[in-house]
Amino acid sequence: MLITFEGIDGCGKSSQAKLTADRLREQGFECLLVREPGGTELSEHIRTLLLDAKHHAPLAAEAELLLFAASRAQLVRETIEPALARNAIVICDRFTDSTIAYQGYGRGLPLAYIRSINDLATGGLVPDLTFLIDVPLELAIRRRKGMGDDRMESEGKLFFSHVVQGYMALGQKHPDRIHVIDGTDSMEDIHHTITRLVEYELGNDLRHAHRMLDQPRRAGSVSGLPATGDYHYDFESIAESLTT
Ligand SMILES: Nc1ncnc2c1ncn2[C@@H]1O[C@H](COP(=O)(O)OP(=O)(O)OP(=O)(O)O)[C@@H](O)[C@H]1O
Ligand SMILES: [Mg+2]
Repeated sequence: MLITFEGIDGCGKSSQAKLTADRLREQGFECLLVREPGGTELSEHIRTLLLDAKHHAPLAAEAELLLFAASRAQLVRETIEPALARNAIVICDRFTDSTIAYQGYGRGLPLAYIRSINDLATGGLVPDLTFLIDVPLELAIRRRKGMGDDRMESEGKLFFSHVVQGYMALGQKHPDRIHVIDGTDSMEDIHHTITRLVEYELGNDLRHAHRMLDQPRRAGSVSGLPATGDYHYDFESIAESLTT
């Protein structure tokens, strides 16, 4: 399962991502926490290029988009896909929605390009669950006081108001995946809300797994399923074999 955290700078993504990862690990799940841009050696180099505020020449918006995409492509292939393949839970601090919100709505790059580039970078991987932490811009700025601004964070208020619009549009477009969380609540209350939603999703996942495993047993004769041993739950091919 892939869980992502989204929202403007200072909304509380990293705090909540860590609390969620810690909780899932306490419960015995293998849980990988990664951040974007970053999460692999190459992606961390790209992060430095992207967020270093001391660039001499301004970074072109198109170059910025493609660097974020390069970082993501490496992260997905090198880290996220292998973790998902062994059934680990992956938590990602920012993912594709950030690109739509920042490079699309913020910078004004065409959304159609961004969607294609996101698709290429992720190989079509879409989060199962996304928490969009919503806070007023002023509160986010107050929370970030003293943390030092990186290159993106030093953008003006107008840029961020466009980013917020982008996030809200995404929330409306994908209501099943994206949960808009009131980020003005206390850290504990937000964590509680997120935990409830994660556990609900995990429950659905387990119910789904049981359904898929029960049906072939009831049907008794589904070809291609190993009887015992090192069982790889390939749900897609199981589902396919049930419907054909
Ligand atoms: N619900 C909350 N109430 C009060 N303070 C909070 C809350 N959530 C986070 N903070 C504080 O706000 C600051 C920013 O939080 P955090 O680093 O988690 O945000 P972020 O979204 O990851 O920011 P960035 O996008 O810059 O990485 C931290 O000092 C954190 O302790
Ligand atoms: Mg953070």
